[in-house]
Amino acid sequence: MRTFALCALLLAACGGPKQETKPAAAQKSLYDRLGGEAAITAVVDNFVGRCAKDQRISARFANADVPHLKKMLVEQICQASGGPCKYTGKDMKTAHKGMNLGDDEFDALVADLKGALDEFKVPAQEQNDLLGALGPMKPDIVHQ
Ligand code: HEM
Repeated sequence: MRTFALCALLLAACGGPKQETKPAAAQKSLYDRLGGEAAITAVVDNFVGRCAKDQRISARFANADVPHLKKMLVEQICQASGGPCKYTGKDMKTAHKGMNLGDDEFDALVADLKGALDEFKVPAQEQNDLLGALGPMKPDIVHQ
């Protein structure tokens, strides 16, 4: 009887349903892999600075409320990457309505974001994951 109990215990411990062991990086949210809110804030500061200097799109930001825009971008990226924030800004269609932004302008902004991510040495995987989270917003942003 004892042997049976021991076998059952061993089976339960070792022979139970196989648990997939993922590499540590895959278990962490993108938010954590980016370095949390402080790192996202630093990237957004740098990114918006680049947009403001980028001749292809700087005029678009001439009348922008830059501190507010930065705050909204941090919230948005934090939420989209699985962080604890709640985005409190406008939806993307409403925020860009009437601007009639072109694909070239969208690409310029993405290049500026990539420049900021490169400057902070964010690895390719995290860059791709972030751009993958923002990319689907494009149809709501361009030609509005
Ligand atoms: C993935 C691409 C983009 C994202 C995630 C994004 C995100 C945002 C967010 C979160 C806001 C703030 C909304 C609010 O105030 O509630 C905003 C506003 C704005 N965005 Fe975008 N945007 C994108 C592309 C673009 C592009 C391509 C341009 C122009 C080249 C642009 C120009 C602006 C401007 C001018 C504002 C208003 C700023 C203000 O009036 O204070 N955005 N965007």
